Amino acid sequence: MPATILVGTQWGDEGKGKATDLLGDRMDLVVRYQGGNNAGHTVRAGEHTLKLHLVPSAILSPGVTPVIADGVVVDPGVLLEEMDELEARGIDTSRLLVSANAHLIMPYHLELDRVTERYLGRNRLGTTKRGIGPAYADKATRIGLRVQDLTDEKIFREKLEVVLKEKNAILSRVYNRLPLRADDIVRDYLGYGERLAPHIADTSAVLYRALREGKRVLLEGAQGTLLDLDHGTYPFVTSSNPVAGGALVGTGLGPKEVDRVIGVTKAYVTRVGSGPFPTEDEGQAGARMQDRGQEFGTTTGRRRRCGWFDAVLLRYAARVNGLTELFLTKLDVLSGLRSVKVCVAYRYEGAVFEDVPPHQSIVHRAEPVYEELEGWPEELSEARGVDDLPPAARKYVERLADLGDVPVGTVSVGPSREQTVEVGL
Ligand code: IMP
Repeated sequence: MPATILVGTQWGDEGKGKATDLLGDRMDLVVRYQGGNNAGHTVRAGEHTLKLHLVPSAILSPGVTPVIADGVVVDPGVLLEEMDELEARGIDTSRLLVSANAHLIMPYHLELDRVTERYLGRNRLGTTKRGIGPAYADKATRIGLRVQDLTDEKIFREKLEVVLKEKNAILSRVYNRLPLRADDIVRDYLGYGERLAPHIADTSAVLYRALREGKRVLLEGAQGTLLDLDHGTYPFVTSSNPVAGGALVGTGLGPKEVDRVIGVTKAYVTRVGSGPFPTEDEGQAGARMQDRGQEFGTTTGRRRRCGWFDAVLLRYAARVNGLTELFLTKLDVLSGLRSVKVCVAYRYEGAVFEDVPPHQSIVHRAEPVYEELEGWPEELSEARGVDDLPPAARKYVERLADLGDVPVGTVSVGPSREQTVEVGL
């Protein structure tokens, strides 16, 4: 049975947590394929609410195996902390699998993420400072340490000592920071390795076998299309590939293993960190979205920038991911507006762009061309079927599907599982 990919179509924070929660329950394995603890979603565990950054939220569904695949960068201390928190709330984490090939976030990655952002000053990227970029950089430079290295002291120490020589020189001579001690890192990381050992696996082989056995597999992307290293608004991106293609590389599965690509799309747009955002609204409408949508980052608590729906970006996301359907989230947040705007194209120096302009500086300076649709005063949080949506809201959803040329499969009208409308528009 082919796998399903779930990907964010915007700058992350589209509400993938809700979509994964809903779909994940119908799956046998739920897999994270890229990113690290820069992502985050809030989950309910019994009485408690907790924030997960690394462990797939499928950990809460007893029949589902959560997998952290090859393309993820793992901060093992953070991973174990999350597992401990879950265990403390009575949630069994023994099923969790972590790829032996996943790269490790090391203490010098955290340190370098912080100091380089400071060094960039007003040109900073606004990273989450979790060491993500430096860890992926070392992976590409081929000096990264991997999860499997945690189980072999000799190899771990050998690799670390080579890397640390360079990192310490940079930290102390360029950034005036104290050097890090190899012994401290070896002690901490081998301790993590001991605890993680039962979870370490060849996850690519596990997934391949599971698909052969007819199991249902969901490949869950973190962040979103526009934060993709190759296809996002570079350089204001993350250092991995959230797009659907990244799911194949990040898991070690071939393209024929997937037949469904769900794009999670928020009914308006948000972004944290720096970078272009053509439909950003710094006025009342944006403030209203921020407030009603509770738009604060799960990982850093930062206020998210808000703006109108951007169909140029949706078309782009549909193309680069090969989306087969949309999961539209937070439609309820837009209730009460007299009219709702949708950006259908960009205008720059007299030229109109219906697709993302080929040069980044045009994206920075482009003016959105808006279509204005009728708003709806009704609250939507009780809607459970298409007929419960007021005509104006339904028209809005239909228009987005039309502009993106992708059918909308599901509309979410609130955080709980029940607050969901299956549409198939
Ligand atoms: P990094 O991934 O920490 O290197 O940050 C790079 C950019 O991606 C910054 O603009 C971050 O705000 C953004 N980013 C990283 N993870 C997320 C996420 O899960 N949601 C939204 N933005 C993110």
